Amino acid sequence: MNSMKGKVAVITGGNSGIGKATAIRFAKEGAEVVITGRRQSVLDDAVHEIGYGASSVVGDVADIGFHRRLANELSERFGKIDVYMANAGIINLAPSAEVSEEEYDAHFSVNARGVFFGVQSVGPLIRDGGSIIVTSSLAATKVLPSHTLYAGTKAAMAAFARNWAIEFRERRIRVNILSPGPVETEILGKLGISEADRPGLEQHMANLIPAGRLGRPEELAEAALFLTSAGTFVNGIELHVDGGMSLI
Ligand SMILES: NC(=O)c1ccc[n+]([C@@H]2O[C@H](COP(=O)([O-])OP(=O)(O)OC[C@H]3O[C@@H](n4cnc5c(N)ncnc54)[C@H](OP(=O)(O)O)[C@@H]3O)[C@@H](O)[C@H]2O)c1
Repeated sequence: MNSMKGKVAVITGGNSGIGKATAIRFAKEGAEVVITGRRQSVLDDAVHEIGYGASSVVGDVADIGFHRRLANELSERFGKIDVYMANAGIINLAPSAEVSEEEYDAHFSVNARGVFFGVQSVGPLIRDGGSIIVTSSLAATKVLPSHTLYAGTKAAMAAFARNWAIEFRERRIRVNILSPGPVETEILGKLGISEADRPGLEQHMANLIPAGRLGRPEELAEAALFLTSAGTFVNGIELHVDGGMSLI
């Protein structure tokens, strides 16, 4: 339980779902975790739950100024960090014909620009030999109904991460993609699906997954831990953690 002892890990979208589960897992391995999100009270609760000296920085990843401010705070507090997980993301399912300009810009601002400028800002603080994880989605590689806009934003993650793996090579910083299938998190309540229709949708998704169920955030956290800790020779990959859903 000490594989991240003495390390500093920063996780965007760390107050909920996959990010929070990963923060808890990293902290249990001895890491000092800094989480980000927009909701201060939810961040405070998550910091309490994570324990082990965790802390938070509130802000919107769509705002480039936030990334600069976060980098300054991290630099002042720690000098260098070891792990950066660009994980914050949004999704609102809609057929392309129904996507407004505002929805388009919101998705790309959070899911793509937020990741790009996060790595641009915090990257210089990552210690040589550190690691970056980018959270993508099965939707980036598999066609799913009404996912076109979201899929486009997540497809950018593979291109970003592969290029960064080379850009950071001199510093031996590994860059990998964590690609979840459907996972039981708050995001399932933000798909634009009514509460009444949600159980049916979740059952439908579970039926599509060879594992026969949705994933749990802790299972994604375990995969993130592998990418950053044990997987010392793993670089530039997309790790699908989807119960086999990509196979069918
Ligand atoms: N759960 C799934 O089925 C699934 C499948 C594939 C991929 N993913 C990806 O996994 C990642 C984590 O999602 P999750 O399932 O854990 O969902 P979640 O529980 O809804 O968590 C999303 C996190 O992102 C943060 N966030 C959203 N917009 C933000 C913004 N503009 N600025 C800063 N933080 C923002 C949220 O915090 P605030 O609301 O406080 O800002 C929250 O912490 C996302 O990138 C998502 O696309 C999830």
